[in-house]
Amino acid sequence: MSIILIEVDGLLQRFKDLIKKTSENLESNIVLAIDVDEKDPQVLLEKCVEIIDAVSPHICGVKFGRPLILKLSLNNQIRDLIRLAHEKKLVTIMDAKINDVAHTNLNITTQYFDAGFDAIIASPFVGWDGGLDTVFQEATKRNKGVILLVHMSHKGASQGYGRIVIDPDSTKKIPQFIIFAKNALAWKADGVVVGATHPNNLTMVKQIVGENVPIFAPGVIAQGASPKDAVKAGADYLIVGRGIFSSSEPEKSAQKIKDEVNSTIKKLAKSDFEYS
Ligand code: XMP
Repeated sequence: MSIILIEVDGLLQRFKDLIKKTSENLESNIVLAIDVDEKDPQVLLEKCVEIIDAVSPHICGVKFGRPLILKLSLNNQIRDLIRLAHEKKLVTIMDAKINDVAHTNLNITTQYFDAGFDAIIASPFVGWDGGLDTVFQEATKRNKGVILLVHMSHKGASQGYGRIVIDPDSTKKIPQFIIFAKNALAWKADGVVVGATHPNNLTMVKQIVGENVPIFAPGVIAQGASPKDAVKAGADYLIVGRGIFSSSEPEKSAQKIKDEVNSTIKKLAKSDFEYS
């Protein structure tokens, strides 16, 4: 299937431009994490379709996780779900957390892009040379996006992403995730993932990447962070899973989160807010 990327007004667009345009058109900065689970793959597929159908007016994209890929077939049912999302003019992201050596990373990336995903999430821990170089090159060749996992939302994330290390440029001691945020800028990533449960870290990343690299923040609702605070801290897009699909009324929940985010963005725009 051809991808909704990427030619608009005769210009080739990067993924970050595509999702920006999509979110402006649909007036939503919410990316649905479709982490639904069911024993029977057919029932699971039907449930995914039902949820995407119901919440599509209130989201701008759908993020798929590895548990779903393990239960459904990448070359059949997952392609159908990607097609459904694209028909609704939503972008699709594969949360692959790519984290291996270059040729394996390329193989994984190629399979996900062939299936139709517009962007893929990768881990910067493996570095550029012989690590993520092939992933970025493949994405550039195909006008797809790479989103780097810069800081996670769980408690133990501070042991890796928050570990104090020596900055190779300044030789100063800084947290690891600051280097990852700088990598995202230097490598021209189309996004970074930063957990909303650490708002101070979110703001530190925003100060580094500015408007050049959008921030995708998971960790709201089910993990306790509020959508409003995440946006105030610097999130450009919120990744929301259980807060939408586990609710008794997914469509209403998605609309509520969308409205809260939109009104926060409006207020911030009026107040000449700066991330400090
Ligand atoms: P929930 O149900 O917590 O789903 O809204 C969040 C989604 O984002 C994925 N993901 C992360 N979640 N911290 C998170 O809380 C992270 O750092 C992170 N990175 C990715 C998660 O797998 C789920 O799909």
